[in-house]
Amino acid sequence: MLFQSKSQQVKQSELDYDNIPKHIAIIMDGNGRWAKQRALPRIAGHREGMKTIQKVVKHAVDLNVQALTLYAFSTENWKRPKSEVEFILKLPSRFLDQYLPELVENNVRVTTIGDFESLPEFTQEAVNQAKEKTKNNTGLVLNFALNYGSRKELIDAVQKISTSVKDGDLSTDEIDEELFSKYLYTYDLPEPELMIRTSGEKRLSNYLLWQLAYAEFYFTERYWPAFDEASLDEAILEYQHRKRRFGGL
Ligand code: FPP
Repeated sequence: MLFQSKSQQVKQSELDYDNIPKHIAIIMDGNGRWAKQRALPRIAGHREGMKTIQKVVKHAVDLNVQALTLYAFSTENWKRPKSEVEFILKLPSRFLDQYLPELVENNVRVTTIGDFESLPEFTQEAVNQAKEKTKNNTGLVLNFALNYGSRKELIDAVQKISTSVKDGDLSTDEIDEELFSKYLYTYDLPEPELMIRTSGEKRLSNYLLWQLAYAEFYFTERYWPAFDEASLDEAILEYQHRKRRFGGL
C-alpha cells in the first residue's frame, strides 16, 4: 500500500486517551522495500525511515506514551553489506543533529538497550551526547535498541545472576520473574503493552522476547517510511479494541 487514504485515518476522537499503552515497542521494517518500490537505493529508505521516527516520537509525546522502544539495529544486522551497516550506524548522529533540540524541548529522555560498547565510536559519541543532554527529562523515554539481540540480553542476565549467586550475594530461591526482569537491559521500563511491526512481516526477530510476553501484537503491511501519526493511532485503536486477559477469563 503506497499511500494512505483519508478514510483509513482514525478520527482523533475515537481514541480513548485514558487507555494509551504505557510502553510501545516497534520493529521498523520495510525501509529497503519502500526504496525499491521507488527505484531508489536502500539507504534512501533508511533516510526516510529516520523522518518517520521523529513524526512517531512527536505523536507519542502528544499521546502521553511513557516509553517508546525502537528496533534500530539488531545484532544480526551486521551481516548486511558494510556500506549499508555504516549508513545505518551513522543515522543516530544525523537524527540527533537534526532533532535533538526538538527532543529536549519535548522533555524526551534518550536511552538505549543493546551491546553499546561494540558500536562504532561515531555512533556512541552522538548517542552519549543525547543521553547526557536529556538525562533529567521526565517525559517520553525514547529507547533505541541498538546492536540489540534478545537472546544475548537473556544470556547476559543469566550470567549476572549466576555471578551474584556464586559470590553469595543472591540465593537461588530469590530468583523470580520480578528479580529476573531487573537484570534485563529494560530494568527501569514498564513492560511494552503494544508491539508494532511494519512491512507485513510477522516475526519477532529476536526482539524483547521476555518483555513482550503479554503484549498485544499489531502487524501492518505499511512500510516504515510510510508509517505516520495516523498509522500509530490505528495501531493504538486496535490495541484498545482487544480484550487483554493475561491468562484469566
Ligand atoms: C528495516 O528495514 C530497517 C532497519 C534494519 C534499520 C532501521 C533504522 C532506521 C529506521 C533508522 C535508525 C535511526 C536512528 C535514529 C537510530 P529493512 O532495511 O530491513 O527493509 P527491507 O526488509 O525492506 O529490506
